[in-house]
Amino acid sequence: MAAYALTRLRYVSLVLPILVIAMIFGLGVEGVHAIEILPRDTSSVSVKAPPSSSFFLNGLKGQRPTTRHYNFVVSEIPGAPDGFSKPMLVVNGQWPGPTIEANQGDRLVIKVTNHLSNRTSIHWHGLFQNGTNYYDGTAAVSECGIPPGQSLTYDFETAIFSGSTWWHSHFDTQYTDGISGALIVHPSDPAPKGFPTWDEELVVELSDVYHTFSAAIVEQYLTGTGPVQPLVLETPDSGAINGVGQYNGSTDYFDFELQPHKTYRLRLIHTGSAAQIRFSVDHHPLTLIEADGTLLEPYTVSGVTLLVAQRYSALITTNQTAGPYWMRMELISPSNVTGTTTDVRGVIRYGTKSKSLPPAGPDPGFPGTGLADMDTTKLTPAVPDIPPDRSRFYSVPFNIGGTPSGGTIATMNNVSWVPLVGTNTLLEIQQTNGNYAPEGPSTELGNQFIITEDTIQTIDLLLLNTGFGEHPFHLHGHRPWILGFGNGTFDGHDLNPPNPLKRDTFAVPSQGWLMLRYISDNPGPWTLHCHIAWHMAAGLLMQVNSLPSVSSKFHIPSDIVNQCKSY
Ligand code: C2O
Repeated sequence: MAAYALTRLRYVSLVLPILVIAMIFGLGVEGVHAIEILPRDTSSVSVKAPPSSSFFLNGLKGQRPTTRHYNFVVSEIPGAPDGFSKPMLVVNGQWPGPTIEANQGDRLVIKVTNHLSNRTSIHWHGLFQNGTNYYDGTAAVSECGIPPGQSLTYDFETAIFSGSTWWHSHFDTQYTDGISGALIVHPSDPAPKGFPTWDEELVVELSDVYHTFSAAIVEQYLTGTGPVQPLVLETPDSGAINGVGQYNGSTDYFDFELQPHKTYRLRLIHTGSAAQIRFSVDHHPLTLIEADGTLLEPYTVSGVTLLVAQRYSALITTNQTAGPYWMRMELISPSNVTGTTTDVRGVIRYGTKSKSLPPAGPDPGFPGTGLADMDTTKLTPAVPDIPPDRSRFYSVPFNIGGTPSGGTIATMNNVSWVPLVGTNTLLEIQQTNGNYAPEGPSTELGNQFIITEDTIQTIDLLLLNTGFGEHPFHLHGHRPWILGFGNGTFDGHDLNPPNPLKRDTFAVPSQGWLMLRYISDNPGPWTLHCHIAWHMAAGLLMQVNSLPSVSSKFHIPSDIVNQCKSY
């Protein structure tokens, strides 16, 4: 931990004086209500945790498809989500950043202005971006990042996407420092027959917290130049629920005031960087009804463990004795590091005016009820969506390990991804008239491992984890079917699950395998990467390049092209 403090000092000096912070409030349906605040005393500016009222949803039922405008200003300001002051990178001066709430079929127009000293980009995790790959927000793949002082307006449709998700920076490891927020899309289809109902919806963003600036962690992690071991570098200091956490005995808690005898849909979103997070509410079972946008057959559990970037919706009913109850977030980290906080809490209270805290003490659990924690093999889609038979098959081994100098390197198919600079995959596809990469797997200049398909195929990808540790992989632009996973090497048996789960972020077991199926009907380059921020920085990323003869004809907005030229 001493080394953490040292590296932190180096980076505090990088905190730029904040000249102007334009905080745009009133993220309205009818347009933008902008209030510009020009702080005179910059020392008093610090990251705000939004009030708990801003995590209540449910304002959009029955609205017709519309265009929703947002203004995002990205800046660097100090914050202390768990009581420990540190430099942060945030949107509109707050962490979590603004929640985007929309309906299926809406158009989202989000102007992102960069007040950082570095480039940035914003990715809309899980959205399909069919026809708008250039607004996927993935630096070095679909754009080059927004240069300091410039803006980019992302403009895309939610289209057929619905579910709980989030947006975050996709430039280096910036999201670890705070550039993230919830993105909720309500479905326009009625729920399946007999599906449970709820009274209100709440956003619950769960994140690990690092006291060291992520760029400083990455530098040591990749080069091995510091005294701290990679697994210790990966380990967060603490965590936060909706931007409020505890560290070293601090006693600030995020607090939801609810109504008694109502059912709430908690939209749980893991917006963190490495730790697994177990979430539970004392004395309140959780009924899971959604995983990464896929509606589930209701499944009642005592607790749910989320991997980085995964989401679940859980129903809870406020039918216990009036009073306060703990929401618990247990961080399960790559290693146990003394001095870190792994027990992070928030409060749900109802039927009482009292602001007192629930009794201290460990999770009481659900003794005598037989209620167990979530088992991912029991997640069953409420509406079966059976995939077509496969027409292509690729197997991709991946690994993460140490370098001789004590640093870390990761590979997929023996290629360690390095971001392109001054260009991106989509531009390369355009400049080669779609002939950037041959059909099938290939390795392009600059460590780009790509699987290309210029016709619509049903593709099975076998991800083979040849090392230790479970990895939460995410495929952009798709919600693939998860056909199976297991330990050891895959024995090649037929995988024909009767009702496979579709989700965009999935665990590849330690020294194990996972088979996913996707259809190459979404033109553009899409990354498939481990969502642990440190692992992606070490190169654990590949791309699937679908229909390049279509994406090579996209009209890429001139801002995106120009922002590549100015590198
Ligand atoms: Cu949540 Cu590649 O992203």
